[in-house]
Amino acid sequence: MAREFSTVGVVGLGTMGAGIVEVFARNGIDVVAVEISAPALERGRATLKGSTDRAVAKGKLAEADRDALHERVHFAVGLDALHSVDLVIEAVPEHLDLKQRIFAELDRVCRPETILATNTSSLSVTEISVATSRPNQVIGIHFFNPAPVMKLVEVVRTVVTAPEVVADVEALCARLGKVDVTINDRAGFIANALLFGYLNHAVSMFESHYATREDIDAAMKLGCGLPMGPLALMDLIGLDTAYEILDTMYRRGGRDRRHAPVPLLKQMVTAGLLGRKSGRGFYTYERPGSPVVVPDGATPQATDVALADGARAIAKVGVVGSGTMATGIIEVFAKAGYEVVSVTRGMEKSAKVCEAVKTSLNKGVVRGKLTEADRDAALGRISWSATLDHLADVDLVVEAVVEELSVKKALFASLDEICKPGVVLATTTSSLPVIDVAMATQRPADVVGLHFFNPAPVMPLVEVVRTIRTSPEATATARAVCAALGKTGVVCGDRSGFIVNALLFPYLNDAVKMLEASYSTADDIDHAMKLGCGYPMGPFELLDVVGLDVSLAIQRELYLELREPGFAPAPLLEHLVTAGYLGRKTRRGFRDHSHR
Ligand SMILES: NC(=O)c1ccc[n+]([C@@H]2O[C@H](COP(=O)([O-])OP(=O)(O)OC[C@H]3O[C@@H](n4cnc5c(N)ncnc54)[C@H](O)[C@@H]3O)[C@@H](O)[C@H]2O)c1
Repeated sequence: MAREFSTVGVVGLGTMGAGIVEVFARNGIDVVAVEISAPALERGRATLKGSTDRAVAKGKLAEADRDALHERVHFAVGLDALHSVDLVIEAVPEHLDLKQRIFAELDRVCRPETILATNTSSLSVTEISVATSRPNQVIGIHFFNPAPVMKLVEVVRTVVTAPEVVADVEALCARLGKVDVTINDRAGFIANALLFGYLNHAVSMFESHYATREDIDAAMKLGCGLPMGPLALMDLIGLDTAYEILDTMYRRGGRDRRHAPVPLLKQMVTAGLLGRKSGRGFYTYERPGSPVVVPDGATPQATDVALADGARAIAKVGVVGSGTMATGIIEVFAKAGYEVVSVTRGMEKSAKVCEAVKTSLNKGVVRGKLTEADRDAALGRISWSATLDHLADVDLVVEAVVEELSVKKALFASLDEICKPGVVLATTTSSLPVIDVAMATQRPADVVGLHFFNPAPVMPLVEVVRTIRTSPEATATARAVCAALGKTGVVCGDRSGFIVNALLFPYLNDAVKMLEASYSTADDIDHAMKLGCGYPMGPFELLDVVGLDVSLAIQRELYLELREPGFAPAPLLEHLVTAGYLGRKTRRGFRDHSHR
């Protein structure tokens, strides 16, 4: 029979501990909540109060339930208060020696049958367990931040954890309404092993001024549908905690340079910029502990910065190409009121593109998103041509032809001869260096990347890529155009993968490597990222949608350009592509889609 947990102890009431107390108390379990000092205890109590008050204000918790919840929590300073609990969860800072000391003490204080659990994110549960005389009763119970919200719990068993202890903890997770994945003791478990390389990479982008904090975060939210951007997430996790997790993962996880904490992190921690908990991290918050971001010196001005930076007026836009991206981009510009000249390689292709644009606009009408008059007006703004000469008087050209450098270079050389001076020339390339395309013209200062996402009419993000030759006016123009299209333009440097792909694909590749190493299953990994981090799709779901061949090609580009050993494509990914398992489009990728 499963063990009854009527009282649990929580040690450390910081970012995680206070949330864990709430989870237990909400589910009718008595909690002894322990801190190191009276002031820390008060902070923990205030965090719990703030969180439950917010839940009441949002209508997610009845007032009476909140009061009952608080009555279940007994606060105390020092571990002695834990003498008769059934389970203890430790959530003190991420230092092995501190955790070992606490476990040795818990071993002394707690009853012999009490289960001792750690919420560590990256330390070895095994090493923590050997500080006690009962390593078979020590386990990892890794909650996600914020604990009351995130559904996932990683249950970490060591080689000596008793199977019944694992089963009891799994049953407890179910009682708490959580979904658990049970795994072995490896640095970062599932979610953090996939998350922290990405977070550290985002910090390095920020540190090197590759893009602003707002743009990095907007790119990942709007480009991948993530609930928050990586820098905002670092602030939520706590920069001190994140630093320790990275440092441990670097040392335990094979010294992967991607886990070596970016120097800026250490500086911020030393300077007391710990994120939300200290009121300032990458962003500035209303007060310590508040989730509300307030403007600071780095906040971009909402007003017409673009115009101030010398953005040029754009009325007429040329779009070159006849594929999916070109078709979507023509529609986007026409709907936003621009006059559009579509240029393809022949009138037959133009007719096809025209049909595709009409079909898409008609769908908008059927769905009630567009009136018939708007549709007709949009179509009326587009002219169809099979010769580049018709681009002589446009103000902006967006090139969306095949992803081959020689083709793009030849096209830009022609545009250079045909277009009037001052025109902004944009390429939608997702993998080629924009500077190569720019140097095919005599006016590299006017060339930018405008990386739309597929489907262009739907996706709210555009990456505006400036090369080392792009003028501030051309960048400002591109950004202003994105705003006029109702999209968010994020500005970044001209490096492989820009922001989104550079941060996304190594994570997907790491998930493949984790599967390949048999650490976990595709289902559990997908679960972990969706329920632990709020991702809209798990990595294997996403790989099957994007296409394994496309993903492999992008990962190869990143590896070739950045020479980062950790970016080497996973052999399993290569093999699946060789075998023709490319994802949904071939009905088989990581999963079999033949019956769906
Ligand atoms: N922050 C996250 O997003 C996150 C997510 C999952 C797991 N974790 C893990 O949870 C653990 C706690 O991290 P955190 O971010 O909540 O840290 P934190 O710094 O916010 O809180 C730690 C708390 O422990 C208290 N403490 C320190 N020494 C103590 C002692 N001897 N006895 C009792 N209390 C003591 C501190 O006063 C502080 O309130 C770490 O192992 C971390 O890796 C963190």
